[in-house]
Amino acid sequence: MEHHANFIPWQMLAKKYQIELRIVPMNKDGDLDLTELKSLIDHKTQLLAVSHISNTIGTIHPLDEITGLAKNKKIPILIDAAQSACHFEIGVDSLNCDFITFSGHKMFGPFGVGILQVSEKYLGDMTPFNLGGGIIKDVQIGKTSFLNFPHNLDAGTPNVSGVIGLSAALKLISKIGKSDMESHLNNLTLFALDQLSQVPGIEIIGNPKKRIGIISFNLKNIHPHDIASFLNKDGIALRAGMHCTQPLLRSLGLHATARISFSIYNTEKEINKLILSLKDLIKFWS
Ligand SMILES: Cc1ncc(COP(=O)(O)O)c(C=O)c1O
Repeated sequence: MEHHANFIPWQMLAKKYQIELRIVPMNKDGDLDLTELKSLIDHKTQLLAVSHISNTIGTIHPLDEITGLAKNKKIPILIDAAQSACHFEIGVDSLNCDFITFSGHKMFGPFGVGILQVSEKYLGDMTPFNLGGGIIKDVQIGKTSFLNFPHNLDAGTPNVSGVIGLSAALKLISKIGKSDMESHLNNLTLFALDQLSQVPGIEIIGNPKKRIGIISFNLKNIHPHDIASFLNKDGIALRAGMHCTQPLLRSLGLHATARISFSIYNTEKEINKLILSLKDLIKFWS
């Protein structure tokens, strides 16, 4: 169910170092199979990586249970919080994990900038993955030594404007309040699921135990790209395609979905407009 960003790096490392990459299966509702997870982690497991919220189905993964299982076996945990950082309080301590990643562009910030938080325990293990200026303690012809974390991870000229922009975005989010964001998204998601269920020929992808902010769907006999372009002319922007989760779509036997994702500025009125637009599209296509 992972975004390619939290899948391909592990796949590449596995290939390079002959590491076994184990995938936790999901059920057809879009929930991870935690019984399988129990049997997949053992004394050889070096890392458990999981997203907080699926960017395609909207599943909120039960992080408490997942991190509990891994921590019991002393396995470090990485959480991809790209979809949750905007509206959930996150942090390596509060989420009981060791690494958290998230991106600026998912929280009103600039593109190409993000945050990696590392728990105290692993700070000393963080070595440069990119090489260049700015991360240096000392360079001699025969050897180089590096600054400590986090300065050893930012080789080259830094994305200064990106970081300043992200900082402004974080301040804006604090001002709005994450819990207000979360409850607004919750209400919109419930309202939209109810309204969408009345659209003829619709298939909502997944029915996870907990979801927020994201709904993927298909309409019978209408390609998701056609849905997106039709709605676009009504001023409604949604994404169609595989959402950077090709293994997920393949496992569901799908080539693409149309995906609605909400933010603080969306309203129930806009959802009503979306429903009318979908009904127009179905009429147009029949
Ligand atoms: C869950 C999730 N993880 C990772 C990413 C990728 O972030 P970036 O493109 O900043 O690497 C995204 C989307 O952009 C996402 O939705």
